[in-house]
Amino acid sequence: MIVYASRTGNVSYIVSKLQAESIEITENLIMDKPYLLITYTDHLGEVPQKVSHFLKSNSHLCRGVVVSGNSNFGHRVFGGAGDKIANAYQIPLVRKLELRGFQADYDTIQQFYETRVKDENVLKIKQ
Ligand SMILES: Cc1cc2nc3c(=O)[nH]c(=O)nc-3n(C[C@H](O)[C@H](O)[C@H](O)COP(=O)(O)O)c2cc1C
Repeated sequence: MIVYASRTGNVSYIVSKLQAESIEITENLIMDKPYLLITYTDHLGEVPQKVSHFLKSNSHLCRGVVVSGNSNFGHRVFGGAGDKIANAYQIPLVRKLELRGFQADYDTIQQFYETRVKDENVLKIKQ
């Protein structure tokens, strides 16, 4: 499962390039299986407020984070939401994308998803 937040459509576009079930963050969304989080960056390297709120209840099932940013904001805050989430919850930062990113980004994300998120679902079902 991919869980994502998108304000102006870039993250939605990234999600559309991936072969995976996906769900957009809405208020009070509660997850019951492992997922990959994809978010944009807000306000000088900050985690979007709705993503912070979501993680308070769901961080334990987050297996990795992918972030989209805009390097025009400067390297210190580029994709800062991903750095902050990875540090706060000790979750791997899978990829930092410039805006919509490129095919190489989608390939890396898809591979991580297949090996570290999707397979875990299968293992749980088999147990
Ligand atoms: C108000 C505002 C603040 C932003 N701040 C940052 C930032 O600090 N660092 C960064 O890398 N990108 C920043 N961005 C860029 C977005 O994270 C980037 O455009 C992203 O691709 C948006 O994804 P979305 O189209 O799915 O909402 C900001 C964008 C806006 C509109």
